[in-house]
Amino acid sequence: MKRIAVLGHHAISSGDFSLNDLPGGAGRMDILSRCVSSSLFLSHGMRRDVEVYLVLLGPPRPPVTLRFSGERIRSLNPDERSAGSLIKKALAIPRGDEFRESTPGVAVRRGGLAGLLAEHRFSVLDEAGVDLRKATDLPDNVILSDHLNFTEEEAELVSGCRSFSVGPLSLHANCAISLFLNEHDRRSAGWT
Ligand SMILES: C[S@@+](CC[C@H](N)C(=O)[O-])C[C@H]1O[C@@H](n2cnc3c(N)ncnc32)[C@H](O)[C@@H]1O
Repeated sequence: MKRIAVLGHHAISSGDFSLNDLPGGAGRMDILSRCVSSSLFLSHGMRRDVEVYLVLLGPPRPPVTLRFSGERIRSLNPDERSAGSLIKKALAIPRGDEFRESTPGVAVRRGGLAGLLAEHRFSVLDEAGVDLRKATDLPDNVILSDHLNFTEEEAELVSGCRSFSVGPLSLHANCAISLFLNEHDRRSAGWT
């Protein structure tokens, strides 16, 4: 199992947004939707061994965490609106401290980064990290930020995590996810 967590610093934490305005009114939810797509879609199929966590940190009641399970997901298409629609549905149901499924393969709960770190061993994907290709022990679980840097509080929370870079340039988060998964694909296929 590989787990990919993305922090959405302005991503709205209620279902009160328009699918026509994912970048604006929904607080750059377009970035998170693309991350879901890049994490789960193959050309003709799904990555069943991947879970995606979206940590929504925008108003009105953050933090909220959504979980997309590649093993169980249904009704997801690669376009941004499709993931946006499942996010909207997840944010419409009551949420507690445990994950509760809103649609097949999508679940929601209260809480954010600290809860994820308590449950799984994560590494950080960061431009300044060490070269992922040189990692002898490739991380299964990674955390990324959206278009913003990690806050001081987040940086403190992940200060004990290993940090890896997929290349020398700063990429969009969904592109970094593709390169992370590609490294897994290459090693699984015996290419490296
Ligand atoms: C657009 S970047 C974040 C903004 C950027 N830190 C800045 O200076 O404005 C989105 C996220 O993708 C990941 N990322 C981007 N480029 C990366 C790289 N070369 N290696 C590893 N992760 C990368 C990081 O998690 C980063 O926070």
